[in-house]
Amino acid sequence: MAINKVKGTYDVLPNESYLWQALEEKIREILGLYNLKEMRTPIMEYSDVFHRHTELSDMVTKETYDFDDRGDRKLTLRPEGTAGIIRSYVENKLYASQELEKVYYIGPNFRYERPQKGRYRQFYQFGVEAIGTIDPALDAEMIILAYDFIKRLGLKGVRVRINSLGDEASRSNYQEALKAYFTPHIDELCEDCKVRLTKNPLRILDCKVDQKNEAIKNAPTPQDYLNHESRAYFKQVLDHLNAAKISYEIAPKLVRGLDYYSHTVFEIEADIEGFGAQNVLGGGGRYQNLVSELGGPDLGGIGFAFGMERLLLALDAENVDFAKERPLDAFVIVFNDDLKTVATEILYELRKANLVADTNYTQKAFKGQLKQALRFGAKYLVILGEEEYQKGVVAIKNTKTEVQEEVLIPKISKYLLEKLEK
Ligand code: HAM
Repeated sequence: MAINKVKGTYDVLPNESYLWQALEEKIREILGLYNLKEMRTPIMEYSDVFHRHTELSDMVTKETYDFDDRGDRKLTLRPEGTAGIIRSYVENKLYASQELEKVYYIGPNFRYERPQKGRYRQFYQFGVEAIGTIDPALDAEMIILAYDFIKRLGLKGVRVRINSLGDEASRSNYQEALKAYFTPHIDELCEDCKVRLTKNPLRILDCKVDQKNEAIKNAPTPQDYLNHESRAYFKQVLDHLNAAKISYEIAPKLVRGLDYYSHTVFEIEADIEGFGAQNVLGGGGRYQNLVSELGGPDLGGIGFAFGMERLLLALDAENVDFAKERPLDAFVIVFNDDLKTVATEILYELRKANLVADTNYTQKAFKGQLKQALRFGAKYLVILGEEEYQKGVVAIKNTKTEVQEEVLIPKISKYLLEKLEK
């Protein structure tokens, strides 16, 4: 058996990890502005957290990694973040101390999907949930946050698409209408959709097999079935978005691929030439039954999640210069093996002064060491030679200006700190 990575997974290599770190930093920085606190929940949960009888999406019925542990417990690797967050919210009774809990999370998720560019079996999401209240201003805040995030990252080619599925009553009217509409077309539907027709006709709309099906294309939209209250709620959400001057479009056919949504749903799409089919960078919406389905009180929430690989792909496709690898402040070059212990001492001093420093461990000639230093982007070379050492100094060379000066060994850090300050 070959020892290589599992299909649909990838490695983050040393020369790429700074991009991930920069993205995570941005996430924490921006979400902090919205007063969100981080939550960390396990990547495995009891299967029931995801396999609820109401959840009939492909994600839950076909794509989860389910397994029995050695104690015969039925566990699932999380396919998304929301259900685990709500499980924890209920279990820890967070509703008892806060009327509205606003949290974010970052971490890997697992879905057994067909891998392609932008679609993996293990992928990272960062997500946000605001749990406890229903208020159109809060729905708008989530959309504004998603929009603000994208703008602050520096992405330009993005579209915010919004729709409303309405409240429970509107939603069930719509489901009935879909049932009535699709029944005469039953023979034109794929095998899965035939089952969906009786169990959950909404899922026919995002059938992955049959996107060109005319019947699906011409199906009624949720907007047609919104009752008065739901329509008024949606209008208020839009009023808030208009007040914040967010650009968005109403997408009457948007229903999202998970079953827990009602009222507001939205997606952020990349509109970048040649980006590929997996262009939905993030999405989310309101959920009114999830908390009670997971054993909590009758409280609603709203949230969204972004796929982090797709964000990095979009940043790359738009050539956004959003992260830099931190260069070395100093690279210590040693000519003489006997002086290596002195180099060790110098390095430790440099790092104590919070300078990013390194040296050579493979005994290369000067040229080799220099090349290595420049590859790391070293700003200064600290050159330690026999002659200098006898005088108690090193030569410090600025790699850009090529100016070289002699500096007393105990003064190296001070010298560099002063130079770097300028
Ligand atoms: P979702 O639309 O299933 O929603 O996923 C959100 C984002 O995760 C997608 O827009 C996409 O960028 C990324 N994503 C999903 N599957 C994959 C994959 N196989 N490979 C790479 N990226 C992927 C949710 O997960 C909801 N929990 C969002 C939410 C939070 N709704 C309310 N609160």
